[in-house]
Formats: sequence, C-alpha cells, structure tokens
Amino acid sequence: MSLVPMKQILDEAMKAGYGVGAYNVNNMEQIQAIMKAAKETKSPVILQASKGALEYTSFVYIKHLVLAALEENPDVPMSMHLDHGPDLKTCKLAIELGFTSVMIDGSIDYGAKTPTGKHPARSFEDNIRVTKEAVDYAHRFGVTVEGELGTLGGIEDETQTDRVLLTDPNQAAEFVRKTGVDALALAIGTSHGAYKFKAAPKLAMDIIEKTHKNIPKTALVMHGSSSVPQELVEVINQYGGKLDKTMGVPIPSIQQAIKLGITKINVDTDGRLAFTGSLRKYLALNPKEFDQRKYLGEGRKGIYDVMKFKMVAFGTAGHSGDYKPMSLADMKRVYGAA
Ligand code: G3H
Ligand code: 13P
Ligand code: ZN
Repeated sequence: MSLVPMKQILDEAMKAGYGVGAYNVNNMEQIQAIMKAAKETKSPVILQASKGALEYTSFVYIKHLVLAALEENPDVPMSMHLDHGPDLKTCKLAIELGFTSVMIDGSIDYGAKTPTGKHPARSFEDNIRVTKEAVDYAHRFGVTVEGELGTLGGIEDETQTDRVLLTDPNQAAEFVRKTGVDALALAIGTSHGAYKFKAAPKLAMDIIEKTHKNIPKTALVMHGSSSVPQELVEVINQYGGKLDKTMGVPIPSIQQAIKLGITKINVDTDGRLAFTGSLRKYLALNPKEFDQRKYLGEGRKGIYDVMKFKMVAFGTAGHSGDYKPMSLADMKRVYGAA
C-alpha cells in the first residue's frame, strides 16, 4: 500500500461518524508507538510533521521513517500531513518528500513581523489568496489541503492579535467556496501546548455545529486537542519535572465535538508528556542505566498507551479495513487534475 491522501481518510470518517487523530511526529520512537497503536486497534491514522519537525529530521529522515512505518504496517491506511505549513514553499517541499496532505496556515503571516516582533494575522482576503495558491498547487498532485480560519492560542499567541479570533461559520463557507480546501481548522477556543485552561474549558461547540451545517462536505479540524492527563503531569513532576497546574481538553468534550462535526483531531502535547514522564521515571529509578534503548523504549511505550486510548475514544478503532485505500493518482482524478 502507498500513503493515502488524507481527504479519503477524513471522507470515510465523516461518512461513518468517527474522528481520526492526527499525531505529531519528530522521531522513530513516536512513529513506532503510534503505528503499533493503530495496528492493534485497527485504526486508520494521520501522522503529521511541523516545519520544526522537518528541520529537526533534516527532511530526509522523516520521509524514510514514514516509509518504514508504511512498509511495516501494510494494513493500516495512513496519511502523512504537513502541520501548520507557513507558506507555499514549505508545502511544496512536503509534497516533494511524498506527503499526501499539507496544511497551509494562511491565518498568520509567518513571513512578516510587526515592530514588536510578532507575526501579524492575515486578513480574510489574504488568507483566501495564499490558501487558494496552495490548493491549486497541491491538487495537481492529488494532495489534500487543510486551511485555517481564525486564530488559536499557544504558538499563535505570537500573532499581533491580542485575543483569540474564533471562526465565523458564515465566513467559513465563503472561505471553502473560494479556496477549494478539503479540510478546515476551526478556532473554537483551544490552544496549543500544555497550558490551555486554568479551569474546566468552555469551547465554542456552536461554531462546530453551525460550520458543519454550512459546509457538510468539508472535514473540520480541531487543533490543540491534547487532554493533558493529570496522571502524566504528575509522573513528570514526581520525577523532577516542574510543570505548573494546567488543564487540557477533556475526552468527553472531544467526543461531543466529533458528534457535532469535527473529523480530524490534532494531538502533539500528550505524546510529549507521555514520553517525558516515562523517560524521567525510568532514569530516576535506574540511575546506573545508560543504554538509550532502555529509556527511549520506555518513552515509546508511554506514547503507545496514550495513543491507543485515544484511538478507541475518538471512535477510530476498528475502521482500518472499511475501505480500499486510494492513491494520489486516484485522487488526482477526483480533483479533475489527471
Ligand atoms: O501545532 C504545533 C505542533 O504542536 C507542532 O509543534 O512546531 O514545536 O513541532 P512544533
Ligand atoms: P496540542 O498542543 O494540544 O497537542 O495540539 C497540537 C496541534 O494542534 C498540532 O497542530
Ligand atoms: Zn495546530
């Protein structure tokens, strides 16, 4: 099997009413952990890499690690997606590496800086312009495109905007019509990273519902979806870490979001927490150990446990054999680009 266009994985999930996790990866252990969980739970899966991940892996390593995962897991429909592509150049690079999906994050102008050193938010029109450019380019290769409307917290705190700009469901419909994106990231009050909320989160579920009604064929994406499980934070702090009190997005909120129309659920932080906690614990309890396979292996196991749980909770489990995976060539025909 080859890597599957993300559009097919999301379209199938939308039809059947479940969510698919998109898990950020930067190294072999993360990829192995996620793939093992996907294989065992019979889940289709989306691996995703940020620009930072591409740079960390010197580009070529990520490509071959993903190919290795594919070779080892021929029965798992999997996509490789560029997360938060800052510009068309990075999207082109990801497509060259063989990614079957790219995100163009047109909500922020990463190439510009304000006098205070922050990246400005793009206007609606400018977002449409850069996103459409990416769609026109990617669809020629059968590659899926995710756009973003509105701004999240976390990495996007660096924007000029002094508050989170939630997505307007009516603008979303216009955005999709004018750009042709396959998937749309919504801003509903989540943010990236471990420090999302001080108390129980209030997410704008009505935005999901209204947007889904307006554009029922477009896959909706929830970024910043880590749950920041307290037990993971506690393990880190028990073994020398110093994380502050924090809350993530509870699993029942994600399940409600899936019911209302979210299909792709982005998770990075929970994998980082699981890996860090397992490593810290192992090294603290085994101070004489210096074989990296031991502690990296523990980190891998930590990620596997967390991801397996999510695949079941998001409803992805059991669906890997539901459909015949398409190739990029098949998807080019769908886009009329063949
Ligand atoms: O949304 C951002 C992801 O968590 C990726 O983070 O840029 O540190 O790789 P990163
Ligand atoms: P978390 O930081 O909540 O894991 O979000 C990751 C994300 O949205 C990647 O695009
Ligand atoms: Zn994100």
